[in-house]
Formats: sequence, C-alpha cells, structure tokens
Amino acid sequence: MKIALASDHGGFTLKEAVKKHLEDRGYETVDLGTHSEESVDYPIFGKACGEAVAGGQADLGVVCCGTGIGISIAANKVPGVRCAVATTPFMAEMTKRHNNANVLALGGRVLEEAEALKLVDIWLDTEFEGGRHQRRVDMLDQM
Ligand code: RB5
Repeated sequence: MKIALASDHGGFTLKEAVKKHLEDRGYETVDLGTHSEESVDYPIFGKACGEAVAGGQADLGVVCCGTGIGISIAANKVPGVRCAVATTPFMAEMTKRHNNANVLALGGRVLEEAEALKLVDIWLDTEFEGGRHQRRVDMLDQM
C-alpha cells in the first residue's frame, strides 16, 4: 500500500509527522512536498496529491494545510478523488466507512500531532461498508 503525502507550509510539520508514522507502520510513502515552512500555495500541493491517487501512483493520500480545508478543496478538483477533512475520530471513521474517502485532509493548526495520527490510524484501519453507500459514492464519482 502506497500513500501519497502533500502539504503547504501550514501543514508541513504535521505532514512530516504523518510520513514518519506511516513509514513506522510499514506503509510506502510518496512525499509530494512541500519540504519546508516557507510559504507556498496549497492548491498546487492538493492537486498533486489528488493526481497521484487518481492516477494510480498511490493507493491513498493524506494532505495537510493549516485547517485541512483549502488543500482538501484542491484535491477534490481532481476527478476520482474523494477527499475529506476530519477533526474527530468519528469523522475519520465515517469518511472511510460511508464515503470511502481516498484522501484524508488534516489541519496542522487545528489538531495536536497525537490526535492527528490517531485520525490517520482510524481512517486507514476502517473498512468501507459498501452496500447503499456504494451507490452514493458511485454518484459522486460520476459528477
Ligand atoms: C495558509 O496560511 C493557510 O491559509 C492554509 O494552510 C490553509 O489553512 C488553507 O485552507
């Protein structure tokens, strides 16, 4: 399983922590930047992560900015991407169980590192439920 990572400066520290955490868990990562706290534009990085997932270079993605919001909007512009911001364990679980989110967005200025890593684990370890949710996810993918 390969996971693409991307952030802007507001999510850089969290992205680095997520990368280490995923590698410690045995996942292969693809780091699409940014690579420092120097100010950059989150649309570029959200799009890059979305394209990596939609294009099959990665199975899943995690994107981080200050709130998780801007970079999630950017990732969602790529057809085939279902990116969702999670701020609680319930959101992290449901966005996989019901929405089958293939990119998770996190806010580096919203979450403590330990909280964020817990959300990553919940999202990764939750299975998509399918059934009636499959039809809705298919509708999203056809938009
Ligand atoms: C950058 O200052 C900030 O706007 C960005 O990280 C993010 O929070 C946007 O949604």
